[in-house]
Amino acid sequence: MQRKTFLTQTGILLTGLPLAGLSNPPFAETMNTEVLSKLKEKMETNPVTDENYWNVVRGMFNYSKDFINLENGYFSPQPFSTELFHQAKEHEINNKTSWFMRREQRDMIEQTRKNLSEFLGCDPEELVITRNTTEGLNTVISGFPWQKGDEVIIGNQDYGSMVSAFKQQEKRAGIVIKIAQIPLLPKSDDDLINAYFSLVTSKTKVIHLTHMVNLSGQLLPAKKIIDAAHAKGIEVIVDAAHSVAHIDFKLDELGADYLAASLHKWLCCPLGVGFLTMKIQHIPKIWPLMAEDEFGDDNIRKFEHQGTKPPQTVMAINEAIKFHNAIGSTLKQERLQYLKSYWVAKVQNLDKVTINTPLASERSGAIANISVKGYTPQQLADKLLKDFKIFTVAIDHPYIKGVRVTPHLYTSIADLDKFVEAIKSISNS
Ligand SMILES: Cc1ncc(COP(=O)(O)O)c(C=O)c1O
Repeated sequence: MQRKTFLTQTGILLTGLPLAGLSNPPFAETMNTEVLSKLKEKMETNPVTDENYWNVVRGMFNYSKDFINLENGYFSPQPFSTELFHQAKEHEINNKTSWFMRREQRDMIEQTRKNLSEFLGCDPEELVITRNTTEGLNTVISGFPWQKGDEVIIGNQDYGSMVSAFKQQEKRAGIVIKIAQIPLLPKSDDDLINAYFSLVTSKTKVIHLTHMVNLSGQLLPAKKIIDAAHAKGIEVIVDAAHSVAHIDFKLDELGADYLAASLHKWLCCPLGVGFLTMKIQHIPKIWPLMAEDEFGDDNIRKFEHQGTKPPQTVMAINEAIKFHNAIGSTLKQERLQYLKSYWVAKVQNLDKVTINTPLASERSGAIANISVKGYTPQQLADKLLKDFKIFTVAIDHPYIKGVRVTPHLYTSIADLDKFVEAIKSISNS
């Protein structure tokens, strides 16, 4: 069914938003997150598989029509509502200039901190808005008061920038890095918990944990690992770049000592915005990356001193939250998991195909990694792009080799069918 027909039949009227200045304005409904909430109320079928609903959602995103994008792990496109809000705020600030920066910026940041903390489920006094995950986690890793000989446990599939940050502290402060071997396809949570805890000694100060591994999409049992670490007096730093606004969880329930994420990934914010949370008792001991004098050692705002930065990007967080909430965290997670399961089920039993991602709903979300015998990861990614116009990313890591496939809310079933046909054709050749 066409999007417009669907909207009309469900009784949802187009609401006018200012279109002035847009050279190629999308339909008005593509900018209205309220439409989504109203549609959800009217749906009688299971919303996870209601393609009429997702077709409307698809129309709300600015995605390329030139190729099928199954590489949404780097960052997400913004829905039009967020993109246009961001542009309008940039326009407004360009008009107000220093007036905004001197008289309105601080209140706006505080309001956004409050709103984001409600969304994440954490205390606003433990939340700082950063530019991305790398900045948030480097703040903690570089600012931690390490003593020579302190031990940290990281994972063998942690993100490269965080491994580099720990290696810098190895050289600078004399810490000792131990590496947990994370199984690709764990049989149980205990497999994963033991990977970390078999390395614990009396000198272990910190465990660094990637909540969702970017290489494979594997979700680690973070809460169990955090609780077990706390029982031994060990602090836990969580890289939540891929889990926030993808997996439905609240930060205060997870209980990490430090956690950072990028909001341009699954919250669909404009590029260059993220956050760091830190338990209030740890704030005084962590040095900020950039020296700060205004707020005092025990104030989370000491980590927000990054010089002049674009306020419109911070403001857009509020609009992105609106869009996310119009769909809802549970439905978003379930749809993303459904998209992964849809294509995986159709190819996983083919000769030559291996899926390098655990598939249970508690072990992964939208992301899965596939390899085809006879192809290096780069050869497979290149063939998908050249012969089928499907964009993915090659993962050639010592522990995982394959192509990472990441659908998004705007991904259609027809696009996934094309991907399935491509894999069948490649694996048959
Ligand atoms: C697991 C993980 N951590 C951290 C990052 C870094 O994110 P950013 O470049 O936004 O700081 C990424 C980026 O893909 C990631 O996948």
